[in-house]
Amino acid sequence: MRFKFKKIVIVSSLLAVTSLYSGENFEPIKIDAELASDFLLKTLGGELKKQVTTGNLVNAVDFCSQQALNITEQVNEKLKKEGKNVRLRRVSIKNRSSINKPTSEEAKILLMLEKTPSSVITKVEDKSETYKYYQPIKIANEMCLKCHGTVEDISPEVRKKIHEIYPQDLATGYKIGDLRGAVIVTITKNSESK
Ligand code: HEC
Repeated sequence: MRFKFKKIVIVSSLLAVTSLYSGENFEPIKIDAELASDFLLKTLGGELKKQVTTGNLVNAVDFCSQQALNITEQVNEKLKKEGKNVRLRRVSIKNRSSINKPTSEEAKILLMLEKTPSSVITKVEDKSETYKYYQPIKIANEMCLKCHGTVEDISPEVRKKIHEIYPQDLATGYKIGDLRGAVIVTITKNSESK
């Protein structure tokens, strides 16, 4: 009995990884998840750009800290109204906001994405109808560096502001092209179930 139990545990802990290679048809899930994460990133990116170009960076830090989560929630609400069984969030191992901290399973996938930054789908271990789609987020341009770059990239005022709001900030020291984190779309296949 004991042996059998052990076996199950091993299989389930590998499920997230094996499902990556299992050949199961993830295409329909992928399409929905991709649309949702693109929409979130475009919405957040657009708002951020507006803030950075029309105001000053210190205020833009305030804006991110106060609005990024609200905007994500609004996108979640919009998708829910459209009948989509998806939920989005952003995560990063080197997170600025502790709300965006990944679970240990998610952190493993993020480490993998650092080597191969392409989208990934995993099956959530204990719920066979639930999947997680990871869309890598990269440091795309100079704008990102003004708040996530090295000491030379971030002005003293911005650094001060970030430190005030996030004394535990981990999200600096990046270069263009680095993996910054991911959007995780949790997607439930069966639209009848809640
Ligand atoms: C004006 C400063 C500012 C700029 C510019 C900026 N960010 Fe951020 N970023 C923040 C703040 C503040 C947070 C924490 C609040 C939040 O978004 O949840 C954050 C959080 C994040 C997160 C969530 C993970 C975490 O660390 O909490 C990601 C991913 C991210 N930023 C990526 C980017 C990318 C990519 C760019 C460039 C396109 C960028 N940021 C530009 C200030 C900035």
